[in-house]
Amino acid sequence: MKALILVGGFGTRLRPLTLSCPKPLVDFCNKPMIVHQIEALKKVGVSEVVLAINYQPKVMLGFIEEYEKKLGVKIVCSREESPMGTAGPLALARDILDDGSGDPFFVLNSDVICEYPLQKALDFFKSRGEGAEGTILVTKVEDPSKYGVVVFDEGTGKVDRFVEKPKVFVGDKINAGIYLLSPKILDRIELKPTSIEREVFPHVAEEGKLFSMVLPGYWMDIGQPKDYLSGLKLHLASLGQQGGGELYKGEGVVGNVLVHPTAKIGKGCVIGPDVSIGEGCVVGDGARISNTTIFRGAQVKDHAFVTGSIVGWDSIIGKWSRVENMSVLGEDVVVKDELHLNGAVVLPHKEIKASVGSPQIIL
Ligand code: GDD
Ligand code: MG
Repeated sequence: MKALILVGGFGTRLRPLTLSCPKPLVDFCNKPMIVHQIEALKKVGVSEVVLAINYQPKVMLGFIEEYEKKLGVKIVCSREESPMGTAGPLALARDILDDGSGDPFFVLNSDVICEYPLQKALDFFKSRGEGAEGTILVTKVEDPSKYGVVVFDEGTGKVDRFVEKPKVFVGDKINAGIYLLSPKILDRIELKPTSIEREVFPHVAEEGKLFSMVLPGYWMDIGQPKDYLSGLKLHLASLGQQGGGELYKGEGVVGNVLVHPTAKIGKGCVIGPDVSIGEGCVVGDGARISNTTIFRGAQVKDHAFVTGSIVGWDSIIGKWSRVENMSVLGEDVVVKDELHLNGAVVLPHKEIKASVGSPQIIL
């Protein structure tokens, strides 16, 4: 079976992290976002994953080289000359996706995180019969206006309407960005920039050939900092519910915390709830960290306090400093000792020598 992950787009809402690498490679719980997806695809028998990309191909090729071996799945790049939207890339990779077997293929948005119940999705897809061209996984959200809304029959799952970013309320079940599609749907997609949400799904739904399955468990689009931290909390809670074997247990730990085995935590720290600490990180004595993710190689010095923030790769937070309120530090940022950062968004490679009292971008 094959899968395609949509990894285009510039990830502007996740800047400054996406100034260092494409959004799909930004870490989430100590692994690049799409590694969570590729692992789940492999588990249900996917043997080849197509990454549909439109920029930063060099970084992507490095990723593929490293992870093809680590994950034991064939990973190929399908590069667009110019952005092809969310359907065009399927036409571009048609020869791989339609391998003649008639088997369905998976399509995933790269910025969504959930428990990936892909076997359930496969079983559901098969149960809808030959005529079905696709299954969309859906989830319920509070504010559906920034998503694609799916109106469907709760009994059969048959989709009645698909409305992308609706201006008026049509329903609260939204497209979770995970699809299982029949090769037949490829006949509807031309090799040009096309939106699957606006130009393909509404027609398939009209013909009664589109189905939806409600996603069990949590779901989040982690394409912006606030949602990223909400996703972190949900993902760690889910790991806890699954037995918590991966979660960190140690002195001073509060709630769900993930610590890479190579990270070092000092004495007298209070870590958690909802914290992930990446590979090679060093946390000094007496540090206090909550609702935060610390990327690979970063350091939090003695007695620093970090909450509700994202600390980019190899950044350093000085002693007794306080970083809070959705501060996002890009790669290799240095925050000197005893400073206060309130909602500071800091571009890569900056040195912060004075406090930032109110939310702002530090160029
Ligand atoms: N290859 C490629 N080329 N990928 C693209 C392009 C492109 O031109 N444009 C967007 N993508 C990728 C993005 O990287 C992302 O993984 C996915 O397509 C969806 O794009 P977003 O920009 O993240 O869309 P969205 O979040 O506003 O809405 C989409 O996701 C929602 C769920 O999070 C839609 O699919 C909605 O219907 C859905 O509810
Ligand atoms: Mg998105």
